[in-house]
Amino acid sequence: MSIIIDQKEKLFTIHTAQSTYQMTVGKFGHLIHLYYGKKTEGDMRYLLTYGDRGFSGNPYEAERDRTYSLDALPQEYPCYGTGDYRNVALHVKNPDGTYSCDLRYQSARVVEGKYSLPGLPAVHTEAGAETLEVVLADRQSGLEVTLLYGVLADSDVITRAARIRNTGSETPYLEKAASCCLDFLYGAYDLIHFHGRHGMERQFERSSLLHADQVLQSRRGVSSHQQNPFFILADHRTGEESGECYGFSLLYSGGFKAEAAVDQYQQTRAVMGLSDEFFSWPLQQGEIFHTPEAVVCYSARGFSELSFQYHQLIRYHVCRGEWQTKRRPILINSWEAAYFDFDGEKIVEIARQASELGVEMLVLDDGWFGKRDDDFAGLGDWAANEKKLGCTLGEIGTRINALGLKFGLWIEPEMVSEDSDLYRKHPDWAFVIPGRKPVRGRYQLVLDFSRKEVVDCIFEQVAAAIEQANVEYIKMDMNRHLSDIYSHTAVFQNQGVILHKYVLGVYDFLERLLQKFPKLLIEGCAGGGGRFDAGMLYYTPQIWCSDNSDAVERIRIQYGTSFGYPIATVGSHVSAVPNHQTGRSTNIVTRGVVAMAGSFGYELDLKLITPEEKAIVRQQIQDYKKYFDLIQNGRYWRLTSPFEDEDYAAWEFTAQDGSEVLLNVVTLAAHFNGPSLYVRLRGLEEDAVYRMEETGAEYPGSALMYAGVPIPKMTDDYQAWQVHFVRK
Ligand code: DGJ
Repeated sequence: MSIIIDQKEKLFTIHTAQSTYQMTVGKFGHLIHLYYGKKTEGDMRYLLTYGDRGFSGNPYEAERDRTYSLDALPQEYPCYGTGDYRNVALHVKNPDGTYSCDLRYQSARVVEGKYSLPGLPAVHTEAGAETLEVVLADRQSGLEVTLLYGVLADSDVITRAARIRNTGSETPYLEKAASCCLDFLYGAYDLIHFHGRHGMERQFERSSLLHADQVLQSRRGVSSHQQNPFFILADHRTGEESGECYGFSLLYSGGFKAEAAVDQYQQTRAVMGLSDEFFSWPLQQGEIFHTPEAVVCYSARGFSELSFQYHQLIRYHVCRGEWQTKRRPILINSWEAAYFDFDGEKIVEIARQASELGVEMLVLDDGWFGKRDDDFAGLGDWAANEKKLGCTLGEIGTRINALGLKFGLWIEPEMVSEDSDLYRKHPDWAFVIPGRKPVRGRYQLVLDFSRKEVVDCIFEQVAAAIEQANVEYIKMDMNRHLSDIYSHTAVFQNQGVILHKYVLGVYDFLERLLQKFPKLLIEGCAGGGGRFDAGMLYYTPQIWCSDNSDAVERIRIQYGTSFGYPIATVGSHVSAVPNHQTGRSTNIVTRGVVAMAGSFGYELDLKLITPEEKAIVRQQIQDYKKYFDLIQNGRYWRLTSPFEDEDYAAWEFTAQDGSEVLLNVVTLAAHFNGPSLYVRLRGLEEDAVYRMEETGAEYPGSALMYAGVPIPKMTDDYQAWQVHFVRK
């Protein structure tokens, strides 16, 4: 890793282990992007070509030179008003109502260490890092933009953010402030992104980039089930094992926007940041606005290398604290076991059954507080419903602890039910536009987390519940999207400010929880995986991946999720059959194998399973403990794509030193008199010999990787085969 500033040539170069990123200052002071790709040396300015481009304007200083146009030149942080008609990174509305900004280079320096962003999640490291700071300014308005580029000693990514300061005397509005822009001089790329819906998040989709704006975005106030703030640009030929690709990940949990387009000169531009659609941020004199952070990554070795880089980054440089790499307790969650229908006795009984099989934590899901017997009431009142429970929350915690289990609790702090004491007392704390009827979602309204007093009140209630019952885990849920944005304190209603402040309020809530309870494990959740983003993972090292717990559908969801996020972050449970969401029945072995590709747990009434199934559960728990290090800290490989391969799905975990491998296969379609199926492994040592533990058979690593192994004949759909190879 190194950052080199050539002050004389105005050339700024960033080297990571495998890549080089370079920029320069154009002859009129614009910050011009030169290159991002496989590691190179030298001055890359020779790549720039100039030509007289019709209908692509020229800066005034260019005088009679029609070959210098910002509509064609690659840039680091293009802004609207310079004659660049492509998607820009910065869009400013001036106090006089004009839309214009013209950033020119001021200075650059290298700062030791990785920058952080006040109130926002950011990549961190103790292993050494450097930051390149490039300062640009608009002379007219006094807007100063410091572009931040972070590089880490032990990571192949580049982090990006912008610090925008008003050094002028008036108040311009930021109408768009992206985190990063990346221009490509040539090449034909595919866009790979992860769309979805509630219960079917992060579905892989790949298509050629068009000569048109392709926009991935969420206007929902959260990153959302529908789109994910992670995408890839890849060469048409790129696959899992080879080819060039670039990843873009945004550490932000609110509305976002990612744009990619091929321009009229076959150049590609990608821009990513918080949503500009509802964004309008007045920047008073002396004030600073920090954009969220984006992380870009280049891989010359296909998607698996790209994913590996993001997995390592998120594991070691986004997640933090007590549970960063530690094995999380194997839990049983009460939701699909009891829904709202429980009392204290029933919960303790679920815990008792689970403890006999080796489960380590009971999570009491929705329904324990307020008047919460269904989803019409109670949100906002975070005191235990002792009448329903038949005892205090503290007593339940004590009884669960006495069984040898930790106690975890569900909360949904951002929400309020109209039928709640909180709403009756503070109706103005919910987002409701005066004179209009609000949009309800799951019968509930959203609390105005842009207001500190609202966050304070909820935080105090939740902290009291945690203290009362020795709560060691929190599942933080969020079951509707934002609408009716109106903050009763704002001087004037500016949705663009409120939406971002709301996200800062959520982060503040989470940060306060972690400061007060440093050993607390928080699992993120938003109706399943509706806020599965790298920003949330800074606070919650695991996220309930989807409300769809069907093993077969989970294969697709977890496949898509794995492109940008490591296995350790994926909350995944064995649930009952027929599955409550799809009605599909799969055997308990398959459900266990699929759930093990994540932070493992159970979500069913264990009283209702057979003695044989109980024995399997006991074994699964032993297996998960045995394989935990390999699964959570090893390297994950996608061996098939559930979007292309119809017969079976396969994935694998290898130890980082190649010493052991866990191969997982699930058949998707059984055939009468069908062909034999084979699976090829990856990431082994070619010259080593591996012993399959289950059979004792030995295979050279090269044979396993290049010839593969036959998959045992399975006579039913959705059968699983999990085998462990150990290097001799
Ligand atoms: C949505 C979550 O994803 C579920 O797991 C469960 O906690 C429910 N909410 C409870 O209301």
